[in-house]
Amino acid sequence: MAELRSQWGSKVGFVLAASGSAIGLGNIVFFSANAYKYGGGAFYIPYIVAFCVLGIPIMLMELVLGAHTGKAFPQSLYRIGRRPAEFIGWWGVLNATVICMYYVAILAWVLGMFIGSMKGLWNTAPVTSGAFGSLALPNPFGYFFEMLGSWDTLWYVAIVWALNLLIVLRGARSIESATRFLVPLMWLCMVALIVRGVSLPNGEQGAYLLFSPNFTVMADPEVWKGAFSQMFFTLSLGFGIMTAYASYLPKKSDQVHNAATICFLNCSFEFIAGLAVFSLLFAFSVVPKASTLSMMFFVVPQGIAKLPHFVVGFGMLFFFLLFIAGLTSSISLVEAFVASILDKFRWRRKKAVLVVALSSMLGSMCFALPHVVDPTLASNGTLGLTLLDLFDHWSFSYGLLIVGFFECLIIGWVFGAHKLREIINRDSTLDVGWWWDALIKVVNPVIIAVVIGWGIWTEVRDGLYGASFTVKGIPWLSWFAFGAWFFFTTGLALVFTFWRTYREERG
Ligand code: TRP
Repeated sequence: MAELRSQWGSKVGFVLAASGSAIGLGNIVFFSANAYKYGGGAFYIPYIVAFCVLGIPIMLMELVLGAHTGKAFPQSLYRIGRRPAEFIGWWGVLNATVICMYYVAILAWVLGMFIGSMKGLWNTAPVTSGAFGSLALPNPFGYFFEMLGSWDTLWYVAIVWALNLLIVLRGARSIESATRFLVPLMWLCMVALIVRGVSLPNGEQGAYLLFSPNFTVMADPEVWKGAFSQMFFTLSLGFGIMTAYASYLPKKSDQVHNAATICFLNCSFEFIAGLAVFSLLFAFSVVPKASTLSMMFFVVPQGIAKLPHFVVGFGMLFFFLLFIAGLTSSISLVEAFVASILDKFRWRRKKAVLVVALSSMLGSMCFALPHVVDPTLASNGTLGLTLLDLFDHWSFSYGLLIVGFFECLIIGWVFGAHKLREIINRDSTLDVGWWWDALIKVVNPVIIAVVIGWGIWTEVRDGLYGASFTVKGIPWLSWFAFGAWFFFTTGLALVFTFWRTYREERG
């Protein structure tokens, strides 16, 4: 059916869209925050190891899977391992949907801060009224929490979802036209920020910290766990996204080249973003707290507020950059989910996009709930932010790794890594060697299993995540979040898997 399967107009269009998906808030904010948390330059070594061992090989695997089958994640896995594998596919897409829901809530706050940049965000007077009335919060800190505690954010969520819907409505073609314009624009904004950051007095100090290694922290397994989960997130692996995007490519395309280009574009963006953020912070000796959201919403803005000129302009530029980086990522997930539904249920595209966008919008609104549960701001402030923190723990720190683990096993052992490698090498200029089989079959599953096992062990040792900061009066909130995540992913994945069989796979 021609309507169901559109194609990318060009290879450049595909690479831009895929790198737009990979480059997101993760590159600009989470990377810098992790690098800071884990001791500056020390983070690079686990990061580069994760990049070579896990990043490029798994990217290659997900791309070939899509291009070879011409199907989205669940059906392409179905072809390999029937229903059990299809279940993993749906599970991955649903887990990614949870991430997408709160990611859009964060994007909505970014939009709010962008609007605020034109209004009172940079005033130096503390904010003392409103939701967190008893606290006098300095700006932009105060502005952020005032916004979080207001119902306006729900409007912002609706706006972000409307944009997603518009861009994805016509599939690869409309995604391509949007990313062709947005992704280069994003690079331009980044370059402007770096030039500003590094040319500030003392700005180079930040760059220095970022690049000077501290080897002692490398003995800490947390650093490795951070690097490996960051790699999945930043490259959009384990979401089913790259498979869906690659399914719109011609069967014969050089996937080694594609995988390498996307990975390098993503990671170089991450490096230079780290440079911009660190130099900005050091020029004004703002010492970041490790929390990632604080980095994005008040630590960097605090630095910007101290710029000698063009505060409003640079502030707007920063939030605008974050916004388009995030938007080109969130659309990729909507597409991954929609493509999976189209493969199986043969709905009209418009209907699938509408259903996915509207129902996810409701989910996003839960993460933007402004109800203040923690007026002293000891942990997360509002109900929405608390939920976000809890769900992020499950779907990000565990979910992506779980998908990666099963993906490697299904392709490595059930399909056969060597068989997929033959397919890869048929159309690539650079041949992939036997080492790829070893990485997919053994090395990556073992590493991922150790990381997950270590996480579960800390969970058992210290109690369920979030018990300490869940809201007074609702002590079961952390269990609720775990249960809701589990039923949303596992329950719905079962439903989607067993609802019916793929029409073209019958008989
Ligand atoms: N790679 C993105 C980043 O680094 C994250 C991401 C990609 C994402 N696709 C997504 C998040 C879809 C949510 C939904 O920021």
